[in-house]
Parts: sequence; C-alpha cells; structure tokens
Amino acid sequence: MDKIKIIGGNPLFGKIYVSGAKNTALPIICASLLTDEPVTIQNIPFLSDITSLNNLLLQIGTKIDIKEEELNGHLTQTITYHTPQPTSLIAPYDYVRKMRASYYVLGPLLAKYRHVELSLPGGCAIGARPMDIHLTSLEQMGAKIEIKNGYVIADIDERLKGAQISFHSASVGATCNILMAASLAEGTTVIENAAKEPEISDLIDILNAMGAEIEGAGTSTLTIHGVEKLHGVTHKIINDRIEAGSYAVAAAITKGRLELINANPEHLHNPLDILRNMGVSIETTPNSIIVDAQNRTLIGQDIYTDYYPGFPTDLQAQFMALMCVSQGASMVTESIWENRFMHVPELMRMGANINVHGHASAIVRGVDKLSGAPVMSTDLRASFALILAGLVAEGETVVNRVYHLDRGYEKIEEKFRSVGANIQRIKESD
Ligand code: EPZ
Repeated sequence: MDKIKIIGGNPLFGKIYVSGAKNTALPIICASLLTDEPVTIQNIPFLSDITSLNNLLLQIGTKIDIKEEELNGHLTQTITYHTPQPTSLIAPYDYVRKMRASYYVLGPLLAKYRHVELSLPGGCAIGARPMDIHLTSLEQMGAKIEIKNGYVIADIDERLKGAQISFHSASVGATCNILMAASLAEGTTVIENAAKEPEISDLIDILNAMGAEIEGAGTSTLTIHGVEKLHGVTHKIINDRIEAGSYAVAAAITKGRLELINANPEHLHNPLDILRNMGVSIETTPNSIIVDAQNRTLIGQDIYTDYYPGFPTDLQAQFMALMCVSQGASMVTESIWENRFMHVPELMRMGANINVHGHASAIVRGVDKLSGAPVMSTDLRASFALILAGLVAEGETVVNRVYHLDRGYEKIEEKFRSVGANIQRIKESD
C-alpha cells in the first residue's frame, strides 16, 4: 500500500483548483440508470470511488465513454453513461464492499426494471451505517423486500406507488435513493425530514432536467410527482465543498494564504464562520474563497457536527487537527456518526492533547507544536486530517494506508506540492 511522506513547516501559498464533488457524482452517475438514453456528466473528479462505481455499472451493462476535458481552468472528466438494456440487476458484494455508495443503484434499478439485488454494505470505520430508511421507504412505495444471504432483494409488480414518507434521520443516501425511485413512481411522493445538502439539490437539478417533476430543493420537504419516462441530458456537477473546506484548513493550519478556485462559499457558511471566529481572514466571491492566516494567532472554537446547513461531519477531523495547534480549548462534538474519532489516537501520537468523552465529544487543548510520526489513516477525512497535522509538525510524518485518500481527494500530492508543501508519495514498490 502506498504511503505519503510529509516534512512539516512550510506555509502554503497559491491557488488550489477545487474538483467536482465526489458525493454528488456518485448518486448522479446512478441516476443515469433511470433512462435508456445517454446521460453525459461533466466535472467528474479523477477518484478511485468513481472508478469503482464505473466498474459496477459496466457489470450492470452500462456503456461508458470517458473524455478528459479542461473545465474552469483544470482537467476534469466528462463521462457519458448509456444503459439501453441492463445485462444484470445485481450489485455484488465485491463491488459494494469496495464502495458503499454502490447502494445508489437500488432506487433506479428497482423503479425502472422492477427488480434489484444489492449486497448489504455493512458497517465501516465511522459507524454502523444502517440502510433501514432506504428499505422501509421503498416498502411504503409498494416494494417487496427480502434480506437473503447478505443481499437486499427487492421487487415490484408494475410501478412503485407514490407515498407519504417521513425519515427518522435526514439521511443523504436515503434522500437520493428515494428521489430517484419516486421520479418514476405512479403518483406523488412526499419526503418529510429529507436531507438538504447541496449534493441533493444537484441531484434534483439533473433529475428535473431529465424530465422528473420534483419540488422543494434545499428544504426538508420534497415533493416528487412521478413520471412514466425520463430522458438523457448533459449536466455539470457542482464542486466539492468538503475538498474546499479541507484546503481552507490547510491554509489556516500552516499560517499561509490559499485561493480556492471553483469553491462555492454558500456551501460552507458554517465552517467559514468558524475559521473567521478563530482569527482567519476569509474573502469570498461567488466561486472562490481566499483563506489568509499569515501572522495570525488562531483561537480554538467549539464544533458541533450536524445535518446541512450545520457543520459537516466530513470536515470534523480536519478542523480537529487545526484545533490541536490553536490557542485554548475546543470542544468537538460528533452528532452524525457514532465512531468518528479514529484520528484522535493518531493525532495524540504526534503530540496533540485530546480527551475523548464517550463516543460523541472530545476536548482539544491547543499545544505549541506537533512532532512528526508514522501514523495510520482509518478513513478518508481522517487521512486528510493527519496530512494537515504533518504539514505543521516538526520533522517527518508518514501516513500509511493512503488508499483512503485516493477515494476522495483528487491529485492530492500534486495540489499540495503546487502550493509549497513538502509532500511525496512512497509507492509500495519503492
Ligand atoms: C453521506 O453518507 C456521505 N457519503 C458521507 O460522506 C457523509 O458523512 C454523510 O452523508 C453525512 O453527511 C456519500 O455521500 C457517499 P446518511 P450517507 O445516510 O448517505 C443515519 C465521506 O467522507 N441513517 O446521511 O451514508 C446514519 O446512521 C462520507 O465522504 C439511518 O439511521 O449518510 C447517520 O447517523 C463518509 N438509517 C445519519 O443517518 C439509514 O437508513 C446520516 O447518514 C440511513 C442513515
């Protein structure tokens, strides 16, 4: 497995081009299964999660045509997905285990082809990751669902039926799956307590462009008037707010200045406010953010992760790394995932002062410096947090198991090196 080696101490200066959003691309790629016409998606990032999902679609029978395209100043992928007739309605264990978001094929395949077999993804490093909301909602819409040999087997006779559905948690995944399924259902579906993340609004935009009739984007009540057929479109996905937020922390923690191009500040209100309250200068335009922490003393702030527009759980680890070297104490509370402090022991090996209380809260007391160490990454965002710590630590940090990073951060060493970081990948064979 590759490793990343960082020599800390360089403040970062320059421009970072933010990539297309992974967590938008994944459901939108699966939305292409709702039509037998080609769907072209622009601004898809080069990530291993995208390759994994493409492999699943290939085995379902989708034709995939990948083109590289310069868009908004950097290289992206424009991919056309065309599924005139699937050759399989099964998402096997080997695909789903590699990439949990494979479960986005559930709603589209069931709604369009009336049958689907999906391996249950199981838990992961951040929590149990249940799918009960996806499944009970589809049952409310008339699906017959059986769990057998680790698979969800779902069937419908004719079409899914519109239903009044209330989610017990504002799940991003369930909102996407039910939006896609309800688009081809008979009658109207109303989802109460739906997720409001920008990724959901982008999915609604492409579904509506394909001929769906969905109202309420950006609110917690979504109304979907089912239609009989959807058609092909070309759609450009939004940029990655979590990647932008992660590099914003990189500027702050190294006391540098980064201009984040293609970043939408509207999607990052809460994290940017926290950076401002810490003492970081933030300037924004509609599609860029300048983060300047030169000669600033940063003061720790409390963080409470919550559903959008609250503070995103996917930035918790990165902000915790920042709090480790800021003045005073910060309370970090994780309310979305029950096991998302796996980065804490690794940060402590680098000299951080963190006390975890139960599963949900941690007190971080700022220290003057961290020191480099070999560390182990446990999930995507935790890995980025360890790189951030390595960027300010004295000496050398080696982050092991970097395949996590390649799932969700495009060209990470290239981007960091272009703004002055001393970072390199050590290939397994080196
Ligand atoms: C998405 O996961 C993201 N993944 C996650 O990002 C992100 O952390 C999460 O949303 C929350 O923002 C993708 O978009 C691919 P949820 P998802 O369903 O959809 C509970 C990253 O680092 N729940 O919104 O799987 C669940 O336990 C990843 O990029 C149920 O109880 O998350 C959790 O407490 C990690 N039953 C809460 O809802 C269900 O059926 C939110 O989960 C579904 C969820």
